[in-house]
Amino acid sequence: MGTGKRTMAKNAEVVVSPCPFCLERAPETGFVCSECRLTYQEHALYTDKALAQYTVQAPRYDKLAALFSAVALYPVQRYRKAAIRALNIQAGDTVLDIGCGTGLSFPLIEERIGPEGRLIALDYTASMLEQAANKVEAHGWQNITFIRGDAANVAALVARPVNATVAAFSLSLVPGWQQAIASAAGLLQAGGRFAVLDWQTMKARGPVRVLSPVLEWLTKRYGLADPSVNFSDERPWSEVMGTYLTDMSYRDMHLGTTFLCTGVKG
Ligand SMILES: C[S@@+](CC[C@H](N)C(=O)[O-])C[C@H]1O[C@@H](n2cnc3c(N)ncnc32)[C@H](O)[C@@H]1O
Repeated sequence: MGTGKRTMAKNAEVVVSPCPFCLERAPETGFVCSECRLTYQEHALYTDKALAQYTVQAPRYDKLAALFSAVALYPVQRYRKAAIRALNIQAGDTVLDIGCGTGLSFPLIEERIGPEGRLIALDYTASMLEQAANKVEAHGWQNITFIRGDAANVAALVARPVNATVAAFSLSLVPGWQQAIASAAGLLQAGGRFAVLDWQTMKARGPVRVLSPVLEWLTKRYGLADPSVNFSDERPWSEVMGTYLTDMSYRDMHLGTTFLCTGVKG
């Protein structure tokens, strides 16, 4: 893991930064982060695990995501569209995509912001950003800024206020997710919208619960979430986002395996 060094890769600026609440502190024995509630060692392992996983998966991520969507009858594009629609993006807006991955949300954002707008794409994994950069080149988009860094550190990495922020299937992987939400909300202009689309522990009742082990296996195998975390109990998204935002909305999707949580900066 890097410690704030800067390098350039393709057309992406690479900024490697540790979680401000864990990795910048001395790893004292028994230290537990007040933000993400992990020990220093757990935090380092957890983040590195996501990094290793997505570094390997990056070149085939889009195909795996499409396969997962087909096998699990998971209309990911419909959910993604719902998240982007909820942002009420206007032409010329600046939009932040946290954990942008290979840029699967870029087309939906680009068609709304237009050439006058700006898309700030942040991700921790360099090889995912490289795939995203390929997409940008293929489409000829000229208005995208790439930042490599930990979402928990987004306030220090993004230099300008934004009109809207989306985090699609990424914050569930971020140990400092509360800090990421607080920081991202701080970057939003008044009236700006924040949408989190992500996985949660399945809340379905009755016979459909038999699908849980299958979904857990798929998400574990393809790295779309950490199934060891009981997201419903341990990550109260609506409550945390509601600390910084108003007009909160929370919608369960796909038998309760997925949620879309949105709010507006007051
Ligand atoms: C499941 S992918 C989602 C990518 C994209 N948003 C999408 O909808 O396809 C999760 C992404 O989160 C990124 N990620 C994981 N931990 C992160 C962190 N701490 N900070 C920033 N990005 C992170 C991974 O590198 C990966 O690209």
